[in-house]
Amino acid sequence: MSVLREEFPVAAMDFVVAGEASGKIKRLLKKLGVNFNVVRRISIAVYEAEINLVIHSMGGKIILEVGENDVTLIVEDVSPGIPDIDLAMSEGYSTASDEVRMMGFGAGMGLCNMARNSDKFDIQSQVGVGTKVTMIFNL
Ligand SMILES: Nc1ncnc2c1ncn2[C@@H]1O[C@H](COP(=O)(O)OP(=O)(O)O)[C@@H](O)[C@H]1O
Ligand SMILES: [Mg+2]
Repeated sequence: MSVLREEFPVAAMDFVVAGEASGKIKRLLKKLGVNFNVVRRISIAVYEAEINLVIHSMGGKIILEVGENDVTLIVEDVSPGIPDIDLAMSEGYSTASDEVRMMGFGAGMGLCNMARNSDKFDIQSQVGVGTKVTMIFNL
C-alpha cells in the first residue's frame, strides 16, 4: 500500500534550482518520521540522481513513493541515454564537460553511490530515448 506518491520535475542545466527536488524529498521523509539513517542514504542517492538529470539529460522527473515497508524512487529522463551502463557505473567515469566540472560536478561517483546507498538499484537506458533509474530503500 502506498502511503504517499509525489512527482518532482527536474530541468536540464538549471543550476539555480539544482538540488531542490532532493531537498524537498529529504524534508518530506524527515517529516514522515523515516529513520534518519535511511533518510541520509536516500538523500545522497536522490541528490546524485537529480544532478545527473541536470547535467546529463534533457530534463525529467523524480517520482517518490512511500510505502508501508519501503521507499521507491523512480528517476526518469529524456535523452541522450547511456551507451555503456557498466562503464558509466564504474567509479570515476564521467563524460561531464569542463564547464560542468568547474562548477564542482562530474566526479564520476554518482551512479556507484546511488547503487551503494540503495537496497535495490536498477538502471535501464536507451540511447536517444532516455534513462530510468529505480531505487528501493527498505524501511
Ligand atoms: N541521466 C543520465 N543521462 C545520460 N547519461 C548519464 C545519466 N546519468 C549518468 N550518465 C552517464 O554516466 C556517467 C557517470 O555518471 P555519474 O557516476 O553520476 O558521474 P558524473 O555525473 O559525475 O559524471 C556520466 O558522466 C554520464 O556519461
Ligand atoms: Mg552524477
